[in-house]
Amino acid sequence: MLRGLALAFSVSFFSCYLTSVPSLASSDGHGFLQCLREKMPSELVYTQSSSNFTDVLFSSIKNPKFFTTATVSPRLCIVTPGDASHVQAAVVCGRRQGVRLRVRSGGHDYEGLSYRSVRPSEVFAVVDLGASLLAVRVDRIESTAWVESGATIGELYYAIARNDSRVAFPAGECPTVGVGGHFSGGGIGMMTRKHGLAVDKIVDAKMVNANGELLDRAGMGEDLFWAIRGGGGGSFGIVLSWKVQLVQVPPTVTVFNIGRMVDQGAVDILTRWQHIAPSLPSDLTIRVLVQQGQQALFQALYFGTCGALVATMGEQFPELGMTSADCQQMTWLQSAATPFLSFASNGTLEEVLLDRTAWTSAFTKAKSDYVLRAIPKAAWKEIFSRWFGMDGAGDIILEPHGGFMDSVPAAARPYPHRNGVLYVIQYIAYWQQQGDGGAAAKSWIGGLYDFMGQHVSTNPRRAYVNFRDLDIGQNDDDGTFESGKVWGERYFVGNYRRLAAVKAGVDPTNYFRNEQSIPPFMETTTQVI
Ligand code: FDA
Repeated sequence: MLRGLALAFSVSFFSCYLTSVPSLASSDGHGFLQCLREKMPSELVYTQSSSNFTDVLFSSIKNPKFFTTATVSPRLCIVTPGDASHVQAAVVCGRRQGVRLRVRSGGHDYEGLSYRSVRPSEVFAVVDLGASLLAVRVDRIESTAWVESGATIGELYYAIARNDSRVAFPAGECPTVGVGGHFSGGGIGMMTRKHGLAVDKIVDAKMVNANGELLDRAGMGEDLFWAIRGGGGGSFGIVLSWKVQLVQVPPTVTVFNIGRMVDQGAVDILTRWQHIAPSLPSDLTIRVLVQQGQQALFQALYFGTCGALVATMGEQFPELGMTSADCQQMTWLQSAATPFLSFASNGTLEEVLLDRTAWTSAFTKAKSDYVLRAIPKAAWKEIFSRWFGMDGAGDIILEPHGGFMDSVPAAARPYPHRNGVLYVIQYIAYWQQQGDGGAAAKSWIGGLYDFMGQHVSTNPRRAYVNFRDLDIGQNDDDGTFESGKVWGERYFVGNYRRLAAVKAGVDPTNYFRNEQSIPPFMETTTQVI
């Protein structure tokens, strides 16, 4: 989406409950590597001395700002499991030998938390699911699919539609995003208003918990199943695969991309869009990309014909001036691929969804906000004239909520931004390695974010966990519940506490931990006499 761009499985030797482990801070990792060698083929483990260690590490890093020697990358090894038993082995060895794991699926985390640590002294290994755990199995009769976490959402879309073009799955807009991290945090896309987030359509999952046990939904229980569907990646265990419910799509959809400059009324149209987009029929989604050069690009997906879309737009949003000349009719799969054609290396239209190399050469920083009350016209005027006229200006992307999202209670999933949210804003700044080191871009995104504070949600100022932003806070060294509140309540509002209580139940020693992982909340019960 960037521009330019109940069976509880038998656990045999893993079944011991791992309560006593060496200090995670003190391990030198030799015991860990030895333990791994005993439990899995050595070619699945890349150490610093492997000739291709760097290639494997960089293989799915999507933000080149982390391609540097200053990045604290795994000291010990990268494990590329071929099956569940290898993931179980990594967890069991890590617990026994005092080595933490970070898990990577698609590598898109904006802060790189799947493969880097902010703490220079941290010793950890990476479990990289993107190398081999990529399968998608579609069940046409049930209209479901099992997808492994290392698959990309583009591969998921392709496999589903190639099997049956009348079904699809509601998730994000960038095909290279990994299923593992994306589903762990929510999954917003062009079908969110019609069918919800990716996590609203997950019906089962298989994961390895902090004891190395392999669990499905029945085995993990409903609290943990709730938490892994949106509570953010890297907190509860390693999810290997997800069972998703597919949704119906018509044989033909209609899309448009309409750009309006400031001198073509962009400010008025965008001000109006805020009132209209969240309450349009859920068959129609119009998102907006505001770009440097003072342009607003309105991008729509409609589940119907061009004629019906022109009629709806004439009634609901005449200010945009959309006509039949703007329509492009295509299959749903083609609509998912269309924005990314510029990345296509070869193949036909839809095959671009399978291209894992689609890449941005720019360094990026992202932030997010939720809008509950329409932003006044005067503010949009200032956003365009001041902020998008500035050196270092990037993009902002506005994704409307409403529709299906309004029907889901805020506590039904960890993602709490439901009824009453008009839209989510993603701010993205870009820069190149050469030049000012990103000073202008960083100043732009920081300044715009400060300016927007008066217009967006407050108490807390909300954010979307999948648009990871370490500026909003990090866990302290002890990983306490209190220290996590500063960022946790912004991502999860009232659900933060429940997530922390689930964490206390399933990973009380906080083995799965990173700068923004959910800390365990040890509830003390007060006796009322
Ligand atoms: P990555 O592998 O980096 O993991 C992200 C986090 O999840 C890390 O903390 C990691 O440890 C954890 N994790 C990964 N796999 C796990 C597993 N199997 N089990 C448990 N934890 C796991 N979002 C959106 O909603 N809609 C969109 O359209 C887009 N578009 C988009 C485009 C681009 C170019 C980028 C860079 C990002 C987006 N995003 C997005 C945000 C995206 O959803 C978010 O970055 C996801 O976490 C990425 O998942 P990956 O598996 O690729 O990341």
